[in-house]
Amino acid sequence: MRLQLKTWIEVEEYLKTRNGIIIPIGSTEQHGPIGLIGTDAICPEVIAGMAADEIGAMIGPTISVGMAQHHLAFPGSIALRPSTLIAVIKDYVLSLARNGFERFYFLNGHGGNIASVNAAFSEIHSERSFEKNSARPAIRCRLANWFQFDAVKALSTEFYADREGSHATPSEVAVTQFAYPDYIKTAEMERAPDRLRAFQDAEDYRAIHPDGRIAADSFLAKPEHGRRLAEASAEAIKVDYQAFLRES
Ligand code: NI
Repeated sequence: MRLQLKTWIEVEEYLKTRNGIIIPIGSTEQHGPIGLIGTDAICPEVIAGMAADEIGAMIGPTISVGMAQHHLAFPGSIALRPSTLIAVIKDYVLSLARNGFERFYFLNGHGGNIASVNAAFSEIHSERSFEKNSARPAIRCRLANWFQFDAVKALSTEFYADREGSHATPSEVAVTQFAYPDYIKTAEMERAPDRLRAFQDAEDYRAIHPDGRIAADSFLAKPEHGRRLAEASAEAIKVDYQAFLRES
């Protein structure tokens, strides 16, 4: 159930019995020689769609651009600065809260977003705390990463063992291959070197990891792996989201 495919009348009807929404959030950044630029937004968007229908949850528009400054030396990458992303999340949540949404479940596809998403939650909560005796209902936010669930990690390990790496991972590439089979890319690639040292900025990142991957053998990805990873994540999210709605 996508917010963008509803009318305001249907949303008002939804709010009579429910107050939750799932919001996919990702990034637009290079993902190595075969990974799509949109990988981090596509994965949570697709998985949210798989999870939401069965449990009757609303899905908000994907926040597709996030924290990607380390990727800016690669063309196509787009970065928001932390203060911008925090402002976007805050306005997004407060807009929906104004008319009755109360529980906001952010399904994230990009590790680099985590600090800013949590900072945005703190901003939202602190604003309400300053209002003495506010009669407005409490807003509650949760951040979940599609790849964090035990069942997903177990599959990643089964498929890729120590070649999963940390950027342009075969797991995330596989989920995009499952979601967009007409856009599967191929390229000659060596086994990725292990992480050598921390990088300082965008140019440094590209100097250390010239093809964009970090210790990840993206070429191991298969669409069938992606299907299983996405299904495992969607199952875990159904449980986690419903528990989140029940929290008192
Ligand atoms: Ni990614």
